[in-house]
Amino acid sequence: MTNPDALNAQVETAATAVQGRTKYQPTIGLVLGSGLSELADSIQNPDIIPYEEIPHWPQSTVVGHSGRLVIGELEGKTVLAQQGRSHFYEGYSMAQVTMPVRVMHKLGIQTVIVTNAAGGINDAFAPGDLMLITDHINFLGLAGNNPLRGPNDDSVGPRFLPLTHAFDVGLRQIARQTAVTHNITLQEGVYAYVAGPSFETPAELRFLHTIGVDAVGMSTVPTVIVANYLGMRVLGISSITNKAILNPDTNLTVSHEEVLETGKLIIPKLTTLLRGVLCQI
Ligand code: HPA
Repeated sequence: MTNPDALNAQVETAATAVQGRTKYQPTIGLVLGSGLSELADSIQNPDIIPYEEIPHWPQSTVVGHSGRLVIGELEGKTVLAQQGRSHFYEGYSMAQVTMPVRVMHKLGIQTVIVTNAAGGINDAFAPGDLMLITDHINFLGLAGNNPLRGPNDDSVGPRFLPLTHAFDVGLRQIARQTAVTHNITLQEGVYAYVAGPSFETPAELRFLHTIGVDAVGMSTVPTVIVANYLGMRVLGISSITNKAILNPDTNLTVSHEEVLETGKLIIPKLTTLLRGVLCQI
């Protein structure tokens, strides 16, 4: 747990460092998940800042997460893309994992688009699908590890944050319309956040299936909670990179390589969807 004043000082220092490295004033944040870093290649005239050059910024240690900020123009909007993120399973605290979204807020960003790779639990989902996140289940938070745990600064956000509309209703509608316009199949569903880094067992996956989870992954939710806390609007899109294996008596299994390979195949579709959404924000 980090004291709010100390955390705020770190966020200020990091935001000042980012401002010193870019000519842009970004208004939209984009968090690119496993295997999705390439999406930032569409950003025009970018200022690129490696994470190691930003004080207090958590480094990405995972293959498929590049570890840099790409700030520039996309569809007429000024975006700041986080090319790679850090995760709780890497050993970071919730405060560290959610520090980047606090920096985005400090920079004046009011809208965040979060993407991730996820395992498909809904029987109707196939690897390669995109899923609009309508809601989440925060297993770590339900068990006591919520990023808002600790002293609260009431001048920043509420002690008891409502999450009924954690994923902005208007942005979800824009995503649906954009998918129709571009003939993209956009699944919808509930994302469950688990700690990882081991993948789920078949019994755990059957449990998630029973309670109504559509996709499972190891990221995103802490960022979504802190973004809501700071009053930011959030849109969440999962790339379904693999099908959850609910039966242990099979030769099939899941791997990070499969997640990255399918993630790459989904990039053109995801890029089209996000570009379309950006046009309408
Ligand atoms: N489980 C958890 N996280 C994931 C998965 C999965 O099957 N696929 C991609 N990220």
